[in-house]
Amino acid sequence: MGKMIRLDKFLADMGKGSRSQIREGAKKGRVEVNGQTEKKPERKIDPDRDEVAWDKVVVEYRMLEYFMLCKPQGVVSATEDKRYPTVVELLKGEGRKDLFPVGRLDLDTEGLLILTNDGELAHQLLSPKKHVDKTYYARVAGILPKDAKEKIASGMTLGDGTLVQPGKLEIAGEKTLALPGEFAMAEDGMQGETEVYLTIQEGKFHQVKRMFEALGCKVTYLKRISMGTLTLDESLCPGEYRRLTEEELAGLKGNGEIRGL
Ligand code: URA
Repeated sequence: MGKMIRLDKFLADMGKGSRSQIREGAKKGRVEVNGQTEKKPERKIDPDRDEVAWDKVVVEYRMLEYFMLCKPQGVVSATEDKRYPTVVELLKGEGRKDLFPVGRLDLDTEGLLILTNDGELAHQLLSPKKHVDKTYYARVAGILPKDAKEKIASGMTLGDGTLVQPGKLEIAGEKTLALPGEFAMAEDGMQGETEVYLTIQEGKFHQVKRMFEALGCKVTYLKRISMGTLTLDESLCPGEYRRLTEEELAGLKGNGEIRGL
């Protein structure tokens, strides 16, 4: 026997509406289990054996799953790749064939990546119209201009003329490193490395790296630490993952709003 779940949860997970809409629907006779009208939304069903219909249409069971991965460097954000291991392969122990990453991080970028089979949530998180914040920790080589924060806050033009939306820059720490020989800056023989947090809402190709390039600096290390309300679990080492908690998932779904329910 498979896992028993509540009828209203089953239908909500399959995208038929919010739990309360489903309860209403059940009362009105819109739900059937094995061909019989079922008015009790709390009834437990076995998705592998029971046939559930909503408005006379059988609802196929596809359990939605949500994981947070701390993506390591050297792994591509894709489901298949000829040259490199993929983020999906890191979750192969889950035995699911339908997981995909929500958006992409570069090969050499680490940090928070959501893997799911919920195409609807992925779309909501990635749609530029939803303005979901993404925060990155970066180490940046070179000297940031004094007005870097203002430049980022007002929306920048990248090297190739691409306009990016306003972002928020926080300087976490500044180290001035004396570097030998060829790396030394001509004037003072010192080269700076700055630790920053950058929050942006878009996800243009290499966007963070290109924004700092446009400021005359180079990103030497990049890690995503949050996406919307979801923050990377600091106990996850690169390559490790875990399921999202109910609270984390509810936060991402914006209490149902984000799914347009
Ligand atoms: N911006 C980048 O430049 N790289 C990433 O991986 C993510 C954002």
